[in-house]
Amino acid sequence: MKQVFEQCKIGGIALENRLMRSATWERMADEKGHLTEPLRRLYVNLAKSGIGLISTGYTRVLEEEQPNPQMMGIYDDSFVDEYRELVEDVHKENAKILMQLAYGGTKTDFRVGERLIYSPDTIPGPEGVAGTPASREDIARLVKAYADAAFRVKEAGFDAVQIHLAHHYLLNQFLSPHYNQRKDEYGGSLENRLRIVREIYEAVRECVGRDFPVWVKITCADFMEDGSSFEETVAMCREYENWGINAIEVSGNIHGKAEKLCGQIVEGKEIEKKGYFYEFAKVLAKEVKIPVILTGGIRSPEDMEEMLRDSEIQGFGLCRPLLAEPELVKRWKAGDRAPAKCIHCSKCRTKDGNHCIVFNKNAFSQNKL
Ligand SMILES: Cc1cc2nc3c(=O)[nH]c(=O)nc-3n(C[C@H](O)[C@H](O)[C@H](O)COP(=O)(O)O)c2cc1C
Repeated sequence: MKQVFEQCKIGGIALENRLMRSATWERMADEKGHLTEPLRRLYVNLAKSGIGLISTGYTRVLEEEQPNPQMMGIYDDSFVDEYRELVEDVHKENAKILMQLAYGGTKTDFRVGERLIYSPDTIPGPEGVAGTPASREDIARLVKAYADAAFRVKEAGFDAVQIHLAHHYLLNQFLSPHYNQRKDEYGGSLENRLRIVREIYEAVRECVGRDFPVWVKITCADFMEDGSSFEETVAMCREYENWGINAIEVSGNIHGKAEKLCGQIVEGKEIEKKGYFYEFAKVLAKEVKIPVILTGGIRSPEDMEEMLRDSEIQGFGLCRPLLAEPELVKRWKAGDRAPAKCIHCSKCRTKDGNHCIVFNKNAFSQNKL
């Protein structure tokens, strides 16, 4: 039977346990997206806490593209050396680290009007921002930016690259019939909506080679009336498996609201307290052979053990619980298996770095980060 704390191999990465720090924009990089000392320390401390795998915060693949302030960058070669040092430091602590690549797009309220923001179409993003519909040339530019970024990720020694396909960001929007009403070969049928992701995946694969793990983070459904349903998501994931993607992290587009939706049926499945998208991930993990990692609302080792027993899910992603208790994994490993303190209030986005204002409010003054 699978255990949370056991050595395992997930999606091509050998891990000390089944826990992953899900991608978390820390708001701690410098303006250009380079590492700062507190940010570097945060990753090393996460590694020291005993977590199996760390995902970086979402990292921009084009310099001008910045949905949020102080997010990380990987848009040119100047990043490779500092990330190589970071990866070495994380590896010394016996943890693994992947980099999440993203193009944010119209889910932003940052410097809107001052920068070029691509979108699939003219439909505004969730913050009401309309972008510039990407032309074929723009799409080719994006594909190249992802591939170049993935090449750097491998050069820097990361254990994998993850392509962000969730949370209403640009690639999620291309996949979604709500945002993507294009009439060309990038819109319409599922095959067409998937096209940009396939082109990015193929270009990335060509750059990193057959053996380097390429993961995706998906939303299990768009949770919008005219968006992608869960059934459609399953069909997309079968494609990802056929293409050669190595693992799928399952998330949703309703994190701020999910805690309140626990116990309710949404998109035909219950949003569960032990893991919001468990019912979705459980079905998906049966439908595809590549590993499925569940993220969102995870709170206790008991819950995870139950889910490991009752499903094919291979691992779990945590974000807010680690902002509330950066040493949560160490605590669990030491035998204190009480649930995470995090109350999932989502008040962890602050101007002086994203941290928990309820349980870890002195994160900066106490130099914990
Ligand atoms: C402050 C903050 C920053 C986040 N940044 C990212 C990100 O960069 N990339 C991403 O895929 N998800 C991001 N997320 C979403 C988390 O990875 C995760 O999917 C979500 O918070 C649900 O997990 P949790 O219940 O363990 O917090 C962020 C969430 C928070 C609260």
